[in-house]
Amino acid sequence: MVFYSLLASLVALALASPFPSWVDQYPIFGNVTIFTPPSNWSNHWTTYARTVLLDQNGETDDILLASWSFQPPGRTYAPIYQSKDGGLSWNQLSKVYFSAADKPGSTILQVFLYELPRTIGAYPAGTVLLTANAVPANHSSTNIQLYASLDKG
Ligand SMILES: *[C@@H]1O[C@H](CO)[C@@H](O)[C@H](O)[C@H]1NC(C)=O
Ligand SMILES: *[C@@H]1O[C@H](CO)[C@@H](O)[C@H](O)[C@H]1NC(C)=O
Ligand SMILES: *[C@@H]1O[C@H](CO)[C@@H](O)[C@H](O)[C@H]1NC(C)=O
Repeated sequence: MVFYSLLASLVALALASPFPSWVDQYPIFGNVTIFTPPSNWSNHWTTYARTVLLDQNGETDDILLASWSFQPPGRTYAPIYQSKDGGLSWNQLSKVYFSAADKPGSTILQVFLYELPRTIGAYPAGTVLLTANAVPANHSSTNIQLYASLDKG
């Protein structure tokens, strides 16, 4: 009997979709452009983006966040864009300024997003972390800096 129920649960596991259930709620699409540097910016580069699905604290609203590196006019920042429809459309949610990238000409590279799955120190599960390498305009140092958001971005 124990063997039978073990076998039954193994079969159930094998039949389960490899994707989380929310994937089925959205259409399949391709070639979504999240962001294009405006034509009047003097720098038009961007890097690969990082994304995170906010689902580590019981969230069921399927919110995605994305960030990347670029060179906007003036003091740079890491953009946070948000999608509420499975990645089909995106809006800017916030801008994250890094203390070590404090002057025009500084850069914020290798951004990474993460949602805490459990409490770490003063930060509860669901805290969104953004880290990157902030390089001042004079290139004198690299600074791995970490910022936390308590309101989902
Ligand atoms: C995405 O764009 C590429 C290049 O323009 C094109 O070949 C491809 O068919 C597009 N894919 C979709 C799903 O639209
Ligand atoms: C670019 O154009 C936008 C929209 O007209 C304007 O708000 C912004 O100040 C301009 N930026 C630069 C760097 O010229
Ligand atoms: C480079 O810039 C940083 C930040 O603006 C400053 O703290 C540092 O003293 C500068 N280093 C040099 C060698 O000028």
